[in-house]
Amino acid sequence: MLRFCFVLIILFLLTSCDLKIFNADEAEVKVVAEKKNEILNLSSDPEKGKAVYNANCIPCHNYEPQKPGSIGPQIYGSSKELLSNKINLGKYPKNYKPKRSTKIMPLLPHLNQQLSNLHAFLNARSD
Ligand code: HEC
Repeated sequence: MLRFCFVLIILFLLTSCDLKIFNADEAEVKVVAEKKNEILNLSSDPEKGKAVYNANCIPCHNYEPQKPGSIGPQIYGSSKELLSNKINLGKYPKNYKPKRSTKIMPLLPHLNQQLSNLHAFLNARSD
């Protein structure tokens, strides 16, 4: 009987250890995922921004953001605040005078994490 109890205790200890390891892994995965997001948010790579711009903005804005596009205005030099407002909310920062009075541009909130890259591209000096 004593031996049986001993085995039970060992088994119990082993399973609880396992659980702890599992939880630690899960927490670690979460931290790594959060860090990745942070890096995405903090990076400001104009080359990445250009790729995002070409894939999402040039149907309406010009390939060269300094020039007006087929539907949208020139957006070279846009501030982060303006980009964030336009992409996420379809609005403009307070006291900002919009270049066009239309409300055609769709919301593109999935691009929010590319905002720094877009901003870097739209504010890169072209020389
Ligand atoms: C379907 C067409 C379309 C797409 C796609 C589009 N835009 Fe626009 N955008 C417009 C139009 C049209 C305006 C003028 C205001 C309005 O009608 O919403 C505008 C206005 C803007 C403005 C405000 C300009 C100002 O100073 O008044 C910014 C900034 C902007 N767009 C950024 C972007 C970015 C960045 C992308 C890509 C991620 C993008 N837009 C994709 C059509 C588009």
